[in-house]
Amino acid sequence: MRLPLFIVVPVFFIACATVPRVPGEPLYLSKCGACHQRPGRGSFDASGWREVLEGHQSRFPLTKEEMALLSEFLAGGTGQ
Ligand code: HEC
Repeated sequence: MRLPLFIVVPVFFIACATVPRVPGEPLYLSKCGACHQRPGRGSFDASGWREVLEGHQSRFPLTKEEMALLSEFLAGGTGQ
C-alpha cells in the first residue's frame, strides 16, 4: 500500500524534529564516564577537546565523526 504524500511528509518532519539536537550527548554519556568522572563540558574549546580526544585514541578509538560530534558537544557546555 502506498501512503499518500500528505501523510508521509509531515511524519518525516516530526521524526526529524525528535532526533536529539546535540548528537554528541549520547556518546559523551555512554563513553566518557567509563574510566574517570565525566569531564565538565566547556573545560576546553572545540580544538582543545579534539586534542584531548586524539590523546585518547590509544585508550579507545573513536571515528572521525564521533570525535567531531563529541568535541562540538563538549565545547558547547557551560563548564559544569
Ligand atoms: C579507556 C578509558 C577512558 C575513556 C573511555 C575515556 N578516558 Fe579520558 N582519560 C583516561 C585516562 C587514563 C586519563 C588520564 C591519564 C592521562 O592523561 O594519560 C584521562 C584523562 C582525561 C582528561 C584530562 C586531560 C588529559 O587528556 O589527560 C580529559 C579532559 C578526558 N580524559 C576526557 C575524556 C572524554 C571527553 C572522554 C569521552 C570521549 C573520555 N575521557 C573517555 C581514560 C579514558
